[in-house]
Amino acid sequence: NVFFHKTNRFYCHFQIKNLIFHTTFPGSTFEQAKSHPRDVAVLSPEVKTPIPGPKSKELMGHVQNFQNTKALSFFCDFERSKANYLVDADENIILDCFQQISSMPLGYNNTELIAVGKQDNLQNLLINRPAMVTFADMNFPRLVHDSLLRVAPEGLSNVITMGCGSCANENAYKAAFLWYMRDRRGYELPPAEDDEAYSSCVMNQVPGSPKLSMLSFEGGLHGRTLAALSTTHTRPLLKLDMPAFDWPIAPFPKLKYPLEEHESENAKEEARCLAVVEDLITEWSKRAPVAGIVVEPIQAEGGDNHASDDFFRKLRKIALKHSVAFVVDEVQTGVAITGKWWAHEHWGLETPPDIVTFAKKMFIGGYYFNDKVNWKTPSRIGNTWMGDPAKLHLLKKTIEIVKEQRLKDNAQHTGNYLTESLKSLENIHSTALEGSRGRGLFCAVDVNGSRDKVVKEMLQRGVLVGASGPNSIRFRPSLIFTPTHVDIAMDRLDQVLTSVKI
Ligand SMILES: Cc1ncc(COP(=O)(O)O)c(C=O)c1O
Ligand SMILES: *[C@@H]1O[C@H](CO)[C@@H](O)[C@H](O)[C@H]1NC(C)=O
Ligand SMILES: *[C@@H]1O[C@H](CO)[C@@H](O)[C@H](O)[C@H]1NC(C)=O
Repeated sequence: NVFFHKTNRFYCHFQIKNLIFHTTFPGSTFEQAKSHPRDVAVLSPEVKTPIPGPKSKELMGHVQNFQNTKALSFFCDFERSKANYLVDADENIILDCFQQISSMPLGYNNTELIAVGKQDNLQNLLINRPAMVTFADMNFPRLVHDSLLRVAPEGLSNVITMGCGSCANENAYKAAFLWYMRDRRGYELPPAEDDEAYSSCVMNQVPGSPKLSMLSFEGGLHGRTLAALSTTHTRPLLKLDMPAFDWPIAPFPKLKYPLEEHESENAKEEARCLAVVEDLITEWSKRAPVAGIVVEPIQAEGGDNHASDDFFRKLRKIALKHSVAFVVDEVQTGVAITGKWWAHEHWGLETPPDIVTFAKKMFIGGYYFNDKVNWKTPSRIGNTWMGDPAKLHLLKKTIEIVKEQRLKDNAQHTGNYLTESLKSLENIHSTALEGSRGRGLFCAVDVNGSRDKVVKEMLQRGVLVGASGPNSIRFRPSLIFTPTHVDIAMDRLDQVLTSVKI
């Protein structure tokens, strides 16, 4: 059964027993389609038990003996999972629109990645894990060239790897501070005779440990290590009882959606926030000068808050004007989900960011940076492992697959369809839903009522979505998500809103 979907893409469905298989092609002709086969995927979610089911609950009981399990939703059976479908420990087949908190670019059990996982060169790195700060593997330069550097943001030719997103940001801030001090001092290290600088820093005192700050935004999330947490302003439970750097926090624009219908109002709101950013930089110059601004292209945990491309262009200009580093956190927005490899590519910046941080779908954490913020002396930034270079083999293959299968286009097209579908549901359930928004497949909608209940009820119907901020549902599907999957997710959301009091 081969047909053209309404989005003018080529689809093929076939059925074996009660399972419907489905494959989709980026081309719009059969010839193009044949040359781009994709992983097939089961179509209908199947829920046999409440989720978490008895097996998941039993496993939670075991974990509870050594760790708090309150944040666990259920246990996964990755052996049985495939593409957009996650199978849980109780054999429920779930359409996964959340993909391990937005960190699986190609869905589960991708055949080509499995083949890469079996390669000797990858296994060699798993078994002999290098302390990369000092003893890098001899194949590392080639591997970085074939993976990270192939997707380096324009203007950022340096890259450093790290273990996770928090670690990436934590170290990116350090790079900003190093640059700031070198820039203001005129040279990187104080002279050796300047004993005060060297002895005071060891005791956390000025002048060696200068009073400097990173400016962040309300509603942002940059991680849970201590400096990253100081720039995180989402759920209080992430922060309560933890000491934090006292650093300036600017308001992030609170925009009305759809953006194109509220342009002038939104522009005013953005101008207000930008003015506060400038005021804060000036105010803090005496207290703890702002060395860098850190911002997410879309606030990905704090409520899927968007700002216009113009906002980011102006923010970048402010950073240049005051000579502070401009750090873009692409941990969640990176890797093609918005339709471009990096979300900031949408902005049309005249001057690229100084630093772009990544993790999640990149398989490894780290950051790209320009020559301006590069440091020259050793022992400034590093740790034992600096991430895991074995993962770069998976990134390399993923980059190839995204290109071959034109998955950026898929994110754009299927993403538009998802946003449009959310808008249609919003019209039907006009008191329950509002604010449908998205860039590519990075989509969200607000719930008027109990958002958590909607997320939970969707899961009981076999569709996993995430929560974002106080009242948004977020979609972070894989890049091989198709309009047919959108239809299933929308059907379940519709069912929940029709049958459950939220
Ligand atoms: C935008 C952003 N930055 C940083 C992080 C922290 O990454 P990690 O959880 O890998 O430390 C996250 C995690 O959700 C994130 O969404
Ligand atoms: C997932 O991959 C493993 C091999 O790594 C394989 O044994 C399993 O059958 C695959 N599962 C599915 C559902 O394709
Ligand atoms: C939110 O839901 C309540 C209860 O159903 C309803 O009275 C109210 O009008 C809704 N608000 C919006 C903005 O639709």
